[in-house]
Amino acid sequence: ILHVLVVGSGAREHALAWRLEQSPSVTGLWVAGGNAGTSEVAANLDINPEDVPGVVDAAKTHGIDLVVVGPEVPLAAGIVDTLQTLGIAAFGPTQSAAQLESSKNFARVVMGEAGVAGPAYHTFHDYEDALAHIGRNQTPVVVKADGLAAGKGVSLCHTPQDAAAAVQRCMRDRAYGAAGDSIVVEEMLQGREVSVFAFTDGENLSPLVAACDYKRIGDGDEGPNTGGMGSYSPPEFWTEALSRRIADDIMTPTVRAMADRGTPYCGVLYAGVMLTDDGPRVLEFNCRFGDPEAQVILPLLESDPVEVMLACGNGRLGETLVSWRTEPHVAVIMASGGYPDAYDTGFEISGLDVDSPQSVVFHAGTRRVSHAGEDSVVTSGGRVLTAVGWGDSLGQARDRAYARIRTIDFAGAYFRTDIARTAAAAGKST
Ligand code: AMP
Ligand code: GLY
Repeated sequence: ILHVLVVGSGAREHALAWRLEQSPSVTGLWVAGGNAGTSEVAANLDINPEDVPGVVDAAKTHGIDLVVVGPEVPLAAGIVDTLQTLGIAAFGPTQSAAQLESSKNFARVVMGEAGVAGPAYHTFHDYEDALAHIGRNQTPVVVKADGLAAGKGVSLCHTPQDAAAAVQRCMRDRAYGAAGDSIVVEEMLQGREVSVFAFTDGENLSPLVAACDYKRIGDGDEGPNTGGMGSYSPPEFWTEALSRRIADDIMTPTVRAMADRGTPYCGVLYAGVMLTDDGPRVLEFNCRFGDPEAQVILPLLESDPVEVMLACGNGRLGETLVSWRTEPHVAVIMASGGYPDAYDTGFEISGLDVDSPQSVVFHAGTRRVSHAGEDSVVTSGGRVLTAVGWGDSLGQARDRAYARIRTIDFAGAYFRTDIARTAAAAGKST
């Protein structure tokens, strides 16, 4: 018997809870945070996922055997270290290992030690030094706040003016707080982007799984960046050869370098990879599942998630078979009108219970409310839910995701209409 606690409130965490609930070894499932969707598969606890002492207390109270941490903030704050001290198994890296995500400079330094290819970069702790560098060098460049900035600390700068403004935003205006006190200025790479994931116990790695995500709000990748508006897996260009190359040239050497430093990385390692003309290059590492990538890759995990996650923590991944299915999955996010800028919440969501084949809905910004004895689900965030469809082809998966989306409605609902469209068309012509 196993008690599992998922930490987080988004669609990624609903997908984690949904997949864990299918495990025969789970007898109790809780979510720290959660939403209306997680409350259907687990017991929600009213705890802020970033409140590490609060989550740790809840783990003790409920006799939790495994804590699965969704977001990066508690990982970077050392939640896994604290749980380990208490003898509670946790899925995710320690604070030292989570620096692969929480410091962009750290990630570049480790890549240097590991011989992993990335863009040319310079790190600055001083505003004047950074400005002088910008003045001496060519654009385009990418200016990044070193620390965690909820995905907002990266600026693609095509002119020296843009670059200077980005440096000012980080280091003078402190738009990202302490996260921007150091910055990394990088060469801007060109190519296709792919998100690549491997489970690791610090030494052994699972087979890789890959997904593509859509960051912009509008069709055709127009408009501002968001937390992610859709995803699909496997990518139409993902081959055995590419997977092997990224495993051998990126994932394995990075895990080995972390072990050599005495801070082994355990959990899921997420590499944001640019497929350039010169080969795969790492844009960034993350220390967790991606959102919205998790919504398409967790349904593909064939192995018992509990076994895999425990093995990552106790060095036994070498003895644990991890297998991924390859059935195409497509995820479409339904967001509140106005997102990623200001939006209203509290709108009743209809159609959540309508049957739609080979699809599942993962909630994010949703809340259950009771009114005059009637239960309903209302919106409570920018990204409200993710509809995932699957099938024999990306086209079929896409049709099912959109069929599911069209059963659901709330005032101001917005979604992109082109998720996986080009990929599905590419698949059809081959
Ligand atoms: P990050 O927060 O590091 O994931 O960066 C966010 C996004 O910025 C990435 O997904 C890329 O689309 C883009 N990006 C980051 N670094 C680079 C780079 N060196 N060259 C081109 N694009 C980049
Ligand atoms: N999909 C981007 C992220 O999770 O960071």
